[in-house]
Amino acid sequence: MPFYDDPKNAEDYIEMAKGYDGAELIAILDEHLTEGARVLELGMGPGVDLDILAKRYNVTGSDNAPYFLERYKKANPDADLIELDAVEIDTDRTFNGIYSNKVLHHLADEALDNSFKNQAAALNPSGLIFHSFWHGNEVMEMHGMTFHYRSVKYVTDRLAPYFELIDAQIYAEMEKDDSFWVMAKKR
Ligand SMILES: C[S@@+](CC[C@H](N)C(=O)[O-])C[C@H]1O[C@@H](n2cnc3c(N)ncnc32)[C@H](O)[C@@H]1O
Repeated sequence: MPFYDDPKNAEDYIEMAKGYDGAELIAILDEHLTEGARVLELGMGPGVDLDILAKRYNVTGSDNAPYFLERYKKANPDADLIELDAVEIDTDRTFNGIYSNKVLHHLADEALDNSFKNQAAALNPSGLIFHSFWHGNEVMEMHGMTFHYRSVKYVTDRLAPYFELIDAQIYAEMEKDDSFWVMAKKR
C-alpha cells in the first residue's frame, strides 16, 4: 500500500507541507510551454501545484496513492485525475509536458531510468519534462519512505538517452542548495 494511502500519513504530510508550493518552478516551465498545453503531474499529492498548473494548462493530476486522488476529487469534481505509478506510467494518453515536484526522489536507480523511458513514451514529439529533486548523495529512510538525494549530473545522465537537457538549476527550498530542478525535451 502506498505510504500516503493511510489518511493519517497523508493529512500529516499536508500539515507539514503548508506554505510550500511549486509556483516559482512552474513559472520557469511557463516560459517553455504554451498556454493550454496538456500537462501531466506525477505524484500530485494534495494538489497544491496542480491548482497552479490548472490556471494555464490542460492538466491531468496523478498519484499512486488513491487517498490523495479521492481527496482532491471531492473538492474538484471536474478534475482530470488518474491513478498512476511514476515508474510504469501505464496510460495510453499522451501529453505535451510532464511535471513533478519532489516525487522522483522516491525512485531507486533502475526505477528512475524506467520512469524516464516511460515518460518519453507518454510525451508527444518535443514534449517537455520538468522535475525537482532533493540535492545530495545519500539515501535516507524517513517516515517509512526512501529518499534518494541526487546530484544534477546523476539525473541529467539518466535522462540523456531519452531527453535533451534544456536547463538544470540548484535552488533552496528549505536550506541553501537543498534542491534542484531539471527541464528537458524529448529526443
Ligand atoms: C511531495 S508530494 C508532492 C506534492 C505535490 N507537488 C503538491 O503540489 O502538493 C510526493 C507525492 O508523490 C507521490 N508518489 C511517491 N511515489 C510515487 C510513485 N512511485 N508513483 C506515483 N506517485 C508517487 C506520493 O504519494 C505523494 O503524493
